[in-house]
Amino acid sequence: MTSKILHRIPFHRAAVGEEEIAALAEVIRDGWLTMGARTVEFENQFAQYVGASHAVAVSSCTAALHLALEAIDLQPGDEVLVPTTTFTATAEVVVYLGGRPVLVDIDTETLNIDLRDAERRITSRTRAIIPVHLAGQPCDMAEIHQLAKRRNLRIVEDAAHALPASYRGQPVGSLSEFTAFSFYATKTLTTGEGGMITTENAAAAERMRMMRLHGIARDGWKRYSAEGTWYYEVQQAGYKYNFTDLQAALGLVQLKKCDAMRETRRRIAKRYTKAFQMVDSLELPRVLEDRESSWHLYILRLALDKLRIDRDQFIGALNQQGIGTSVHFIPLHLQPYYRREFGYRLGDLPNAESQYLRSISLPIYPTMREEEIEQVIAAVTSIAREAECPSSATQHAITPGI
Ligand SMILES: Cc1ncc(COP(=O)(O)O)c(C=O)c1O
Repeated sequence: MTSKILHRIPFHRAAVGEEEIAALAEVIRDGWLTMGARTVEFENQFAQYVGASHAVAVSSCTAALHLALEAIDLQPGDEVLVPTTTFTATAEVVVYLGGRPVLVDIDTETLNIDLRDAERRITSRTRAIIPVHLAGQPCDMAEIHQLAKRRNLRIVEDAAHALPASYRGQPVGSLSEFTAFSFYATKTLTTGEGGMITTENAAAAERMRMMRLHGIARDGWKRYSAEGTWYYEVQQAGYKYNFTDLQAALGLVQLKKCDAMRETRRRIAKRYTKAFQMVDSLELPRVLEDRESSWHLYILRLALDKLRIDRDQFIGALNQQGIGTSVHFIPLHLQPYYRREFGYRLGDLPNAESQYLRSISLPIYPTMREEEIEQVIAAVTSIAREAECPSSATQHAITPGI
């Protein structure tokens, strides 16, 4: 097909503007650029927003996950349950502490961790579970809490995609002992890079505050401020995971818009779903009734048995029509590192593999214009319709080497 590209629609465009610029300019004029009073203010407002007892701002969601596992004193050889359909950060933090990530298959409806498979993989070394709220749809937290109680596991939620989101009316961030958020450039609240860990455990909050800044006891960041003193004590070999007031300035502006931005994404998701439900070869994301998604991602799934083309060809055709897409995620057990270190093989986690082959993430962000939404709908619909083959079942396989 040689259709002319009307307008290139990127997979993501950050929703930042004049208000963020003004907030950053103010920090620069004030001259306090690293962690300070604005970070504390952002932590307080964030904790209130998600209904958490404590919020600790850090340099990334990866750092947040790492600090939570450190706070529960994860030991070398300990095992942690992690869904295979996630970004490598969720599992690599277990390795940082000498632990073993035990990869778990997913539920084919929600794409979230399959708890029956998780339970089968529990051993006497299993210490924790890291449920990932994929695309922003919360996992079944009631079931996860029951499992954790029954098998004595700690829970660290990976909510990199799930701000704001809720489960049975309660916001993600207040449901478990630990919840980690990401403010990476493509996320629903961005500070460029950054993360937050919320917790209900006061002692763990204190530990994480210390470990995010070199293991320096109590408000180490204040040592250069007017109320601080030059004297400090290093209690642990900590990390350099602190946030900055430049990030906090962005975060404070973004937090105010968080609900409105989610509403816009929800509207786009509705538009997509309304249009695509008329197309036989497309399967649409469904949010279960007892939860609300942040709609960070809109993951479309192809009914490959009804199509003459595979997922990669579909993505290629969208690209030709100017539409940027992504895939969430290549299952971790197929990545060279996890195969090599932990002996995973193709076929080990079949649901994740089959869903991976069918998945395409479409653009969904608050700055999408009406004509851009229309362009995505038109392109997806026409590519699917042109490639539909009513009768024959086509076989699709994972490319060797992935
Ligand atoms: C599910 C998930 N967890 C963790 C992360 C890591 O986030 P960060 O880049 O803030 O460390 C990501 C990043 O994309 C993610 O998608």
